[in-house]
Amino acid sequence: MAKLIVVTRDGSEHEIEGDTSLTVMENIRDAGFDELLALCGGCCSCATCHVHVEDGNKDAMPAMSEDENDLLDSTTDRDGNSRLSCQIPFSDALDGLRVRIAQED
Ligand code: FES
Repeated sequence: MAKLIVVTRDGSEHEIEGDTSLTVMENIRDAGFDELLALCGGCCSCATCHVHVEDGNKDAMPAMSEDENDLLDSTTDRDGNSRLSCQIPFSDALDGLRVRIAQED
C-alpha cells in the first residue's frame, strides 16, 4: 500500500491508502469521492476523472497518450498538471502522490 493524497473541490485534503493494483481514478472512486464522476469507467472517453497532479513522482507515470491529450483539450480546467486519473496506474513509486480533483465542466 502507498499513500495517495486527494484534494477535493472545497480545498480539503484527504490521505488514503492506495491500492497498487488499481488506477488512481479507481482508488479515488473506491474511497468514496463522488465528485470524481469517472463516467466511462476508465475507458479514456469521458474526461470526468480529470485531476491536477500537484505533487509526486511524475517520472513514474505513463506518458500521456494522444487520446488523453485530446480529451483534456475538451475540458475547461486544463493546465500543465492535468491528467486523466484513469490513465495512471497507482504504484509504490507513486507513494505520496497528491492530486486535486479538477473543476466540473
Ligand atoms: S474515467 Fe472516463 S476518461 Fe477517465
